[in-house]
Amino acid sequence: MNPHIEQLHSYPFEKLALLKAGITPPAHLPHIALSIGEPKHEPPAFALEAIANNLELLRQYPVTSGTEELRQACAQWCEQRFDLPNNSVKIANVLSVNGTREALFAFAQAVVDNTQESPVIISPNPFYQIYEGAALLAGAEPYYLNCREESGYLPNLDEVPEEIWLRCQLLYLCTPGNPTGAIAPLDYLVKLIELSDRYNFVIASDECYSEIYFDDKPAGVLQACASMGRMDFKNCVIFQSLSKRSNLPGLRSGFVAGDAAIIAKFLKYRTYHGCAMPMVAQKASAMAWQDESHVEQNRDAYRQKFSQVLPLLQTAYDVQMPDAAFFFWLKTPIDDQEFAKRLFAEQNVTVLPGSYLARESNGVNPGANYVRIAMVADLDECVEAAQRLVNFAKTL
Ligand SMILES: Cc1ncc(COP(=O)(O)O)c(C=O)c1O
Repeated sequence: MNPHIEQLHSYPFEKLALLKAGITPPAHLPHIALSIGEPKHEPPAFALEAIANNLELLRQYPVTSGTEELRQACAQWCEQRFDLPNNSVKIANVLSVNGTREALFAFAQAVVDNTQESPVIISPNPFYQIYEGAALLAGAEPYYLNCREESGYLPNLDEVPEEIWLRCQLLYLCTPGNPTGAIAPLDYLVKLIELSDRYNFVIASDECYSEIYFDDKPAGVLQACASMGRMDFKNCVIFQSLSKRSNLPGLRSGFVAGDAAIIAKFLKYRTYHGCAMPMVAQKASAMAWQDESHVEQNRDAYRQKFSQVLPLLQTAYDVQMPDAAFFFWLKTPIDDQEFAKRLFAEQNVTVLPGSYLARESNGVNPGANYVRIAMVADLDECVEAAQRLVNFAKTL
């Protein structure tokens, strides 16, 4: 077997299940799960209808690249969303993928060149664990770049040693970030692209939370490219998804867009990988990317939840409004694992210990003493959970 499989860490939710094992929470309080980032708002009805009305498409083998209709819809969405010139994103710049998770993983397998000595993949820390698994299975060394409060919860690019930049082949960025919600501003993205030019690495920008924001629209890497006049998007690829934007996590629908030369090679890889999106999903996805009204409603629902829950939590905790995404990244007054364990035992509320989402780097685990709280349940449940968190704080 591939020895790299042994290097894979268990997933945060497996660690969480172990932490909770054997605990019986109070029976009079219904369980509230704030640990999993699975959207619970309504998906757009027209997308569900499109699936029901197009089941005949299951008779066809799907197109790996995505249909022209879908790629065109994604390209136009990119242009409108990121204020790009008309026709600057062509279908050759776009590839449909079965959600960003598989694409983020597969991308490293396609990008990493193992004929070069000791390839490195840079990842934010804390991070979405797929980046790490992708690096390990590609035979690269993950380099964890801490996202701490002092650097606005963004990976501090100035902390990367020269010898790491020299070996770096791929850098994952997550903006808005999971779990911190931090948005990388345009000047940060420009600086990153300049570094990619200097050291010749590929930027994989996971922007799957870009549509869940509260005030300013998050910028994206394609936008940063345009601001620099590099309309070939050289070495830059973004990852987008309908899971959070359109509350369709089960559709497994996303796309990647950017440097056409990289997209062409990635398509070749994917043809062999055999991961084409079913045609019925492609049909519904094309429609979803062409509609913004359901996305605006979705944002409003999150705004309403955060505006009610934040003041409650702030009566008891050190917690701020995130820039974007749907998580609170809450500082725990005690060890984060102990906090999550006792919160479950005493209040029947599940949150995710921050240390499970990060690795120790430069002597610290930047997720330690934080928990991630996903605001995906409905408003009443989130408010009830916040109330229980406040009650819990009184016992600490
Ligand atoms: C940061 C981040 N990237 C990617 C994904 C994968 O999403 P999907 O595969 O549903 O597009 C998630 C899901 O939770 C995530 O949090």
